Amino acid sequence: MPLLDILLYPDRRLRKQAKPVKQVTEDIRQLIDDMAETMYAAPGIGLAATQVNVHQRILVIDTSEERNDLRVFINPIIDSGQGETETEEGCLSLPGIRAPVMRLESITLSAKDRLGDEFTLVADGLLAICIQHEIDHLNGKVMVDYLSRLKHDRIRKHLLKEQHEQTVRHAGASAI
Ligand code: NI
Repeated sequence: MPLLDILLYPDRRLRKQAKPVKQVTEDIRQLIDDMAETMYAAPGIGLAATQVNVHQRILVIDTSEERNDLRVFINPIIDSGQGETETEEGCLSLPGIRAPVMRLESITLSAKDRLGDEFTLVADGLLAICIQHEIDHLNGKVMVDYLSRLKHDRIRKHLLKEQHEQTVRHAGASAI
């Protein structure tokens, strides 16, 4: 199975609104498998389809220490939430960046699993934070949107510079 390319902020495609999955087909399951493999390889604890340039409402998450508890959320909806918690978050689309984000502390969520069956889940702790972070991606939102404009701009410029330097390095290497 191929690893998928992860879009890097400020790529505009990260701003697209993902559409609900109408039917959970074999193609969707193949995409889920590829997304999971990409997430584990990165390594990361969550990945939204938006980040691999597929604009459908699909998330894969594994917040377990052992990396053996893959969770799949298709068309996830947060039905209710309680409390507030602030954590330093990271994101595969913003390598090397950490930012404090305020989230609901616990959530009740409904979604479909990889077989297309509906389920509900009560989540708290890291799982709840991760689900909210990934749902933001489906809505075209990234964690730096929660920061002040000044900090946001600084991070944007820093990442653009890094991406530019990497492109130059790659171009140099292939010229040899
Ligand atoms: Ni992210």
